[in-house]
Amino acid sequence: VNGLLYRYFEQDHRRLERLLAEACAKPDAINIAAFDQFRSGILKHIGMEEKILIPAFQRFSGGVPFPLAAKIRLDHGAIAALMVPPPSMTIIRALRAILAAHNVLEESLDGLYEACENSAGPELDAIMKQVMSTPDVPVMPYNHKPEVLEATRRALARAGYNFDDYL
Ligand SMILES: [Fe+2]
Ligand SMILES: [Fe+2]
Repeated sequence: VNGLLYRYFEQDHRRLERLLAEACAKPDAINIAAFDQFRSGILKHIGMEEKILIPAFQRFSGGVPFPLAAKIRLDHGAIAALMVPPPSMTIIRALRAILAAHNVLEESLDGLYEACENSAGPELDAIMKQVMSTPDVPVMPYNHKPEVLEATRRALARAGYNFDDYL
């Protein structure tokens, strides 16, 4: 309970929240350096959850997927889509709202981290090694074409969020 895996990912959530707060500390000018760090960090974080934690849980549970896996993946799709256009205050507001709801699915008592940790047994060390050795994600340049916002809007809608709520 609240072991290594849980603490690693929980601390990463807090680190990413701080970077996002830093990115919008001055409302008239987004801190791009902070946002770039957030962007690279959250994409790596999501990759570890999708490629390591979610499949590991399913393996340890005899093929039964984590109950919230589908919703978690839809949220990740929305978050990743918000990383494509250049950052704006709308994008940052949407990210903060989505992450506030999303992190609960992972950090709560029956959330992804606890479930993974509890089901891993002796495999926990191997999982943590895989997590720790995950390379940083090379990030693409922002896409400035206005039509990418439509794709972002659709990704949010699929996960149950309305982009216009954050305008
Ligand atoms: Fe996540
Ligand atoms: Fe997470």
